[in-house]
Amino acid sequence: MHSIKAVRGSFFDIAHLVRHPDALEQAARFIDDGVMIIEAGKIRALHTWEAGRHHVPPSVPLSHFPGKLIVPGFIDCHVHYPQTEMIGAWGSQLLDWLNHYTFPTESQYHCADHAAAMSDFFLQELLRNGTTSALVFATVHAASVEALFTAALQRNMRVIAGKVMMDQHAPAALLETPAQSERDTRRLIERWHNTGRLGYALTPRFAPTSSPQLLSVVGALRREYPDVWLQTHLSENPQEVAWVKQLYPERAGYLDVYHHYGLTGHKSVFAHCLHLEDAEWQCLAATRSAIAFCPTSNLFLGSGLFNLQKSWDAGVAVGMGSDVGAGTTFNALETLAEAYKVAQLQHYRLSVYEAFYHATLGAAQALALDDVIGNFAVGKEADMVILDPAATPLQRLRQQNGKDIHERLFALMMLGDDRNIYQTLIQGEVAWQRQPG
Ligand code: GUN
Ligand code: ZN
Repeated sequence: MHSIKAVRGSFFDIAHLVRHPDALEQAARFIDDGVMIIEAGKIRALHTWEAGRHHVPPSVPLSHFPGKLIVPGFIDCHVHYPQTEMIGAWGSQLLDWLNHYTFPTESQYHCADHAAAMSDFFLQELLRNGTTSALVFATVHAASVEALFTAALQRNMRVIAGKVMMDQHAPAALLETPAQSERDTRRLIERWHNTGRLGYALTPRFAPTSSPQLLSVVGALRREYPDVWLQTHLSENPQEVAWVKQLYPERAGYLDVYHHYGLTGHKSVFAHCLHLEDAEWQCLAATRSAIAFCPTSNLFLGSGLFNLQKSWDAGVAVGMGSDVGAGTTFNALETLAEAYKVAQLQHYRLSVYEAFYHATLGAAQALALDDVIGNFAVGKEADMVILDPAATPLQRLRQQNGKDIHERLFALMMLGDDRNIYQTLIQGEVAWQRQPG
């Protein structure tokens, strides 16, 4: 393996974080014919080919991708690996869907062999869709986390995950006591957090499956390990919101349940956030908490429409989430196309730059990882996707009729899927390659 290599092709990324979507056109960087130099898995330089060709000694291996488009690896800010096998289950909204499909499926993850097999399938599915990093729910079983981290470490992927914590309102096979939950979680943090590129996330499923005692345990662990992440669900479905208010009448609202126990903050990622009140937007902003926007899930479960405008107005970071298995695809392009339609229904004009931002640099910010991944800044880890913008006859026709990068990228986003993922690179190494033909 060469520790220095070079990649030539068309590069697109968002050069820096922004506070307003209007700034994204300026921040978008397109190098039609560029060369990236990668050293020890990190980006050492990115130039135009004209300027950079002289910096590539003949001994350095050079891969050239004419006609392709190289973008930062996609980041999935919310996904459940044990729901891969039940994706696309018919006919329910959230609470009924959990009881009928999700909980029975997750009950199988006490079995280490099953968890290992599904971890491999899941990570391959991420890679074949161009996703190089993810914030992942496992199940309540410690074995499910062990299996996922073992498989992610083998692939050198930047994966953050955690054992689901839940002690009420689910089948007995998925419940634990707060004391067990604390023991298992602490052991997993000690074993896995910061091992290679891995990170641990405290993962209380959501308020309805958490007793006050369990949430106290989560809060105490967060204080004990301030460096770990926290992920949960928030304000996804109107019945769920009403149930939380019934279960926690002493709290000001759904988010206040989490806030009260110290679960908001930097490195806290709340999935969905569809029915927030103004005070809740303010609380997310004030605590620097982040949101995972999961359009295919929100449409599939009929949960509601995420309001991107409010997230910018409040100043809350947003990253895209597939939310498989309520989400219906692992693919970021398909996820972004649904985000565009969700925005359209609210008369919000989602630009393709903003869309890519929420799947790359903005997602990295939501995960507090924007210092290491999310774009092609020098020094960042070389996780990237080589997209084939013309993988089908229709796409080829449309790309030929695209007048500039903006139009071609938008058409790619609206028409794209896994066929457009040509290669996925993890720290400069090919981790997935589309079969020829
Ligand atoms: N709320 C609590 N658990 C879940 C889950 O597994 N999926 C979704 N979409 N929402 C949830
Ligand atoms: Zn979810």
